Amino acid sequence: MKLGRLNHIGVATPDLDAAIAFYREVMGASDITEPFDMPEQGVRVCFVNTPTDSGPDCANHGTQIELLAPLDETSPVFGFIQKNPLGGQHHVCFEVPDIEAARAWFASQNKRILGPTRIGAHGTPIFFVHPKDMNGMLTEIMETPREAH
Ligand code: CO
Repeated sequence: MKLGRLNHIGVATPDLDAAIAFYREVMGASDITEPFDMPEQGVRVCFVNTPTDSGPDCANHGTQIELLAPLDETSPVFGFIQKNPLGGQHHVCFEVPDIEAARAWFASQNKRILGPTRIGAHGTPIFFVHPKDMNGMLTEIMETPREAH
């Protein structure tokens, strides 16, 4: 297993517009991507980019907050919001250089992988590992983007 950077923390919210306003107005975020739907995951998503020392340039930002709102009642995030009405931390996402090698590694460690490897919000392959096998954290594993995104 070759651990890469912490790409993002997934945060569920019942109201995406209100969460965006919170990150702008309370947290001082100045770089937030346009929201878009990911129907196959049942969510509407946007990213709050935290800056690095080199500034809030999109191609060179720090760890992101991924804001997730359910698209409808069939969304897995809908159930999360029912249990946690304010929303909150939903998952963490680590980058790896090789998604297939990482998947084989977690399988060899008897970690339950949730569903097939698929294309995630950054356009690179991802999979999720069950929180009960990951010290209580739903964990997304994402192949490092080849180019700046
Ligand atoms: Co994510």
